[in-house]
Amino acid sequence: MAGKILIVDDEPVVIKSCERILSPEGYAVDTASNGREAIGKLGKNSFDLVITDIRMPDMDGIELLRWIRNSKPETGVVVITGYPSQESIKEALSLRILDYLPKPFSPALLVEVTQKAMECVKAGETAETPAEAYTEEAAKQLDSIIKKFRNRPGSLIPVLQEAQELIGYLPPSVQRHIARGLKLPVSEVHGVVSFYSFFTMKPKGKHNIRVCLGTACYVKGAEEIVKKLSERLSIDVGGITDDKKFSMETVRCLGACGLAPVVVVDKDTHGSINPVKVHELLTAYE
Ligand code: FES
Repeated sequence: MAGKILIVDDEPVVIKSCERILSPEGYAVDTASNGREAIGKLGKNSFDLVITDIRMPDMDGIELLRWIRNSKPETGVVVITGYPSQESIKEALSLRILDYLPKPFSPALLVEVTQKAMECVKAGETAETPAEAYTEEAAKQLDSIIKKFRNRPGSLIPVLQEAQELIGYLPPSVQRHIARGLKLPVSEVHGVVSFYSFFTMKPKGKHNIRVCLGTACYVKGAEEIVKKLSERLSIDVGGITDDKKFSMETVRCLGACGLAPVVVVDKDTHGSINPVKVHELLTAYE
């Protein structure tokens, strides 16, 4: 089964069409004619994706979306709307919908949007917290980056590099934006981001600390350094301090084994670090 979908619309013809198009694609499709009925079904069963109209009597799509974000945050949502520019679409976007379908839509568009949304659900992107640095202004700049590289071969990596420079990291929302702009499957963009270690999906602090846990550093006590940094900054590996000053990650061999144990802060390499020196090191960046 390709996934479980709940279609919510007060127009029976829309529900029937969606069901007729999506069932042969391998999806298990259920339907509801308004938000309230949808909540009843969501309370009893879990669905990967909800495709809902925005304008419906009784309980509309936005109210339903709010309920989903509170009660079933892992569920993906695509909204159907006749007015893509209306205020409610903005609200829907802020409630982290995965996509929207402008009415009337073709069967091909429904299948494409559903497939992409399902990929995002499976990649666990629906519970994503919105990226602070991914502002409207940043999104515009990202469009210019995409435009600059769009028709060049091998454009994905340079676009990702510039996007990471712009936003600081590559959260799923940015990956989706790039996938759309370059007309690539989200899975391809996600595959490249997770393959190369210089791309990151997590936000970094003003100063990013990388502690080497390669063999040479490990035998010289790198684990103790990680422990000390965790205590001092009150974060775990992969975390970022509340004031966003420091983030910490571990890496495998930084190519400076002669200096083991090694810690790199931003672009500065610090060798022969021990737990006592950790305090001095942090003070220098504070
Ligand atoms: S093992 Fe740490 S730099 Fe090589």
